[in-house]
Amino acid sequence: MKFDIVTIFPDFFRGPLEHGIVRRAREAGLAEVTIHDLRGFTRDRHRTVDDRPFGGGEGMVLKPEPIFECLESLPLASREQRRSLGAKESVVLLSPQGELFDQKMAAQMAGLDCLVLICGRYEGVDERVSEFVADREVSIGDYVLSGGELAACLIVDAVTRLLPGALGNEASAQQESFTAAAAPTSDGPSSTCASGGLLDYPHYTRPAVFRGMAVPQPLVSGNHEEIRRWRRRKALEKTLRNRPDLLSRVALSEEDRNLIAQIREHGSGEVEKN
Ligand code: ADE
Repeated sequence: MKFDIVTIFPDFFRGPLEHGIVRRAREAGLAEVTIHDLRGFTRDRHRTVDDRPFGGGEGMVLKPEPIFECLESLPLASREQRRSLGAKESVVLLSPQGELFDQKMAAQMAGLDCLVLICGRYEGVDERVSEFVADREVSIGDYVLSGGELAACLIVDAVTRLLPGALGNEASAQQESFTAAAAPTSDGPSSTCASGGLLDYPHYTRPAVFRGMAVPQPLVSGNHEEIRRWRRRKALEKTLRNRPDLLSRVALSEEDRNLIAQIREHGSGEVEKN
């Protein structure tokens, strides 16, 4: 998959996309990232990328010409073709005014051949970019960053790790928080980890006792069913505490509903084991 990032800060991307899974995916040829310096598409001596807003007001606005010309330099299908069903290319303008990025959008983007990310800056981007060249406007959260560069890194990371072969253990992308999966049943070890749209359960590694803090007993019991139930309960506890809004979107089993009732009754301390 190819990522094209359009930015006025090309050096910004030197560090963030050169580590861990993204780096390995790039080295393996699964992901290709090209940074396009917007100033390279200006025509004046000062390489001007911004200007004052029509109608007055604070701050500067990114000009349309360099962005249009940068996109025209890429071998992209027309916007009409890109918008058709099953299109494999997408042009995204990053801005706080966009649709909210989430795991579902990441999974959809991971099915593309090419994703262009335009990083906004200053007080905004000339609206003609959103109106006439971008396919969608995307925000990474309800807060205002000083530009779209961090948002672009975040999206490249979240999408790259979903590309087939990017993770050592393919199963881990399926099991973690936010991956919508059916609620686990009690049949077999395959259901021991899936969080099914809940926040992830807590993880522990050695030492079993660290400064007097012991790993929860079920995890060292060797009993797969006990481990599965403990993890499910902990995932439910954490979701109830930190993101209760997610629960309405999850298919809860009868076991889940009993666990939630127990958690509500006893709090998130040790509750009945079954
Ligand atoms: N640029 C500034 N804030 C942003 C946000 N929340 N998401 C995407 N791009 C942005």
